[in-house]
Amino acid sequence: ARVVVLASGSGSLLQALLDEAGTSGIAVVGVVTDRTGIAALDRARAAGTEAVAVLVSDHPDRAAWDAALAATVAGFEPDLVVSAGFMKVLGPAFLARFGGRTINTHPALLPAFPGAHGVRDALAYGVKVTGATVHLVDDGVDTGPVLAQEAVVVDPDDTEETLHERIKVVERRMLVETVAALVRHGATTTGRTVRIP
Ligand code: GRF
Repeated sequence: ARVVVLASGSGSLLQALLDEAGTSGIAVVGVVTDRTGIAALDRARAAGTEAVAVLVSDHPDRAAWDAALAATVAGFEPDLVVSAGFMKVLGPAFLARFGGRTINTHPALLPAFPGAHGVRDALAYGVKVTGATVHLVDDGVDTGPVLAQEAVVVDPDDTEETLHERIKVVERRMLVETVAALVRHGATTTGRTVRIP
């Protein structure tokens, strides 16, 4: 299946999918980011995968950027879109085209601690257990149907960085497993809503 990955940062989740590509029917055919100068773009280049940055600053408003993002992703003709550390909310134009076959990974046990600082918020709250969630993207923020979750115990000495790194280990494995399962169960035809097993 043709998979497009959206990223905004170091791209370690992207790397997990690039490493898996070729097996379990996953072909990462494109990487789309909302910024330049990030390691995710270097990882795509090193893997020989086409990468495009779609910058908000290049568009008159957020709706125009959202439409440009959708058009850029559509150019890769994806069966499945994976938001892996993408730090923008996907808007109506994007969801009109790719809703139902876009998944996101979040470093907390949704619905707890949604948003851009899930790890920091969980740590600040003082939870003993947090974790990671892979979910279908809907028109909310981190609110779509849950596909996979796994708990991560918080260590008393954890900082946001140490906890986030341990969560990302879980995210990387869960993301690859979830994408492989979606590919096996029929996300291979462009336009068909992904059948969730
Ligand atoms: C992941 O924990 C993701 O859930 C969050 O940001 C992190 C991205 O990590 N939104 P990377 O850029 O893939 O290393």
